[in-house]
Amino acid sequence: MSRPLEIIVLAAGKGSRMHSSLPKVLHDLAGRPLLSHVLDTARTLKPRRIHVVVGHGGEQVREQLNHPDLLFHEQIEQLGTGHAVGCALPYCDSASIILVLFGDVPLITSSSLHDLVAAAEQGPAMLAADCPDPSGYGRVITDASGAFVAVVEEKDADTRQRSITLVNTGVLAAPGPLLNQLLARIGNDNAQGEYYLPDVLGLARQEGTSVSVATTGDATEFLGVNDRSQLEQLERALQQRLAGQLLKSGVALRDRQRLDIRGELQCGRDVAIDVNVVFEGRVVLSDGVRVGAHCVLRDVEVGSGTDIQPFCHIEGACIGADCRVGPYARLRPGTHLDQAARVGNFVETKNSRLGKGSKANHLAYLGDTQVGESSNVGAGTITCNYDGLNKHPTVLGDRVFVGSNSTLVAPLELANDSFVAAGSVLTENVPASQLAVGRSRQRNIPGWRRPGDKGQ
Ligand code: UD1
Ligand code: CA
Repeated sequence: MSRPLEIIVLAAGKGSRMHSSLPKVLHDLAGRPLLSHVLDTARTLKPRRIHVVVGHGGEQVREQLNHPDLLFHEQIEQLGTGHAVGCALPYCDSASIILVLFGDVPLITSSSLHDLVAAAEQGPAMLAADCPDPSGYGRVITDASGAFVAVVEEKDADTRQRSITLVNTGVLAAPGPLLNQLLARIGNDNAQGEYYLPDVLGLARQEGTSVSVATTGDATEFLGVNDRSQLEQLERALQQRLAGQLLKSGVALRDRQRLDIRGELQCGRDVAIDVNVVFEGRVVLSDGVRVGAHCVLRDVEVGSGTDIQPFCHIEGACIGADCRVGPYARLRPGTHLDQAARVGNFVETKNSRLGKGSKANHLAYLGDTQVGESSNVGAGTITCNYDGLNKHPTVLGDRVFVGSNSTLVAPLELANDSFVAAGSVLTENVPASQLAVGRSRQRNIPGWRRPGDKGQ
């Protein structure tokens, strides 16, 4: 029987190298805080408890990530990673295996952690990575036989040690009682005057306990975030990983380097995504959906066969099957498009529905508007839904035709088959099948002369 698992996540550091007032672990990676990536990975291991050690901006971290399965512990002074673990350890079941994760190492995978936890049943185990550019990381010192000796932090390392490319990922696991006992004995006599967590491993080895070293398979999962440049590097690494998964599942991406998923993207079969598309929140693309270049989609559902053309901004919308949107359309929250509806260039919709086969193809604003089936909203149509205090609805029936450059002053109803002459300003409802003309009549003035025109 394996022992219970307790996970301690360190998130108290200030992150001074970010030059930011936001606590480091709350910085955004692919649409959510760094720490939430680590916590989600931790959860896949089904631990007894997850402890989060907070300090700098602790209140903010707790507020943003609060969840009943987390136990927060305050590290009042940041005296080092070893000291931070000491803030949570008294609250862990002493018979358990303790796994320590860093809140600023967010791409670590559950499979690496599984192996590490399994190894820790026998004694202390650490996760290392071979890194061509090891600067900033603690180096793993091994003996002639390749066995673990110690971790030396970069600031304490001599030139020869600095040339070592095997680095400490920060992740370690050990039986609770052993960790407890070793942690009580580490000192802070080093370049940073801190209690270094990896010193427990060196101490174990000095006392004849061997430390098992696992290395990560993936070249990016060990990367830590200490500055903005590393954060950007990790964002790209994670986006590459997500794009790779999409390609593998059958999504046609034009360029895996030019795609950003900042949330959850679910795709059906034969979905095609052109370059520079940003997905935020939860986006569902059904079978055969095409998304053109340079679109931003946030919290959107798109029905099968729909074509989103380039340069659209779509948020909080539900788009039916076989629709055509864009180019240059802006669909705001509460937009519903029924099957085969069309919204074209420079059309803005908010809290509005377009029924089956209805169109608003050019330069329009539809706010708080319900449009029935097979209606046509002409170019330049504006619903005046806001009187400065309240919002009012506009309702169009089926087969309504609104001529270009019309102003629909809400509340307003245009019944089935009604027709609005171009350039109208409508303030009154239009009954079924009637033509509404809401504009002054044209006069042509014969014999008129331009100013300065002397005539014959
Ligand atoms: C640490 C490791 C280093 C490793 C690297 C991997 C130590 C001493 N060094 O260095 O060997 O290669 O991570 O990324 O462990 N923290 C606290 N309280 C503290 C200090 C830190 O909670 O008092 C937290 C930080 O918020 C951060 C994590 O511990 O999430 C690591 O701290 P950081 O200062 O970034 O350590 P590194 O210098 O990166
Ligand atoms: Ca770090």
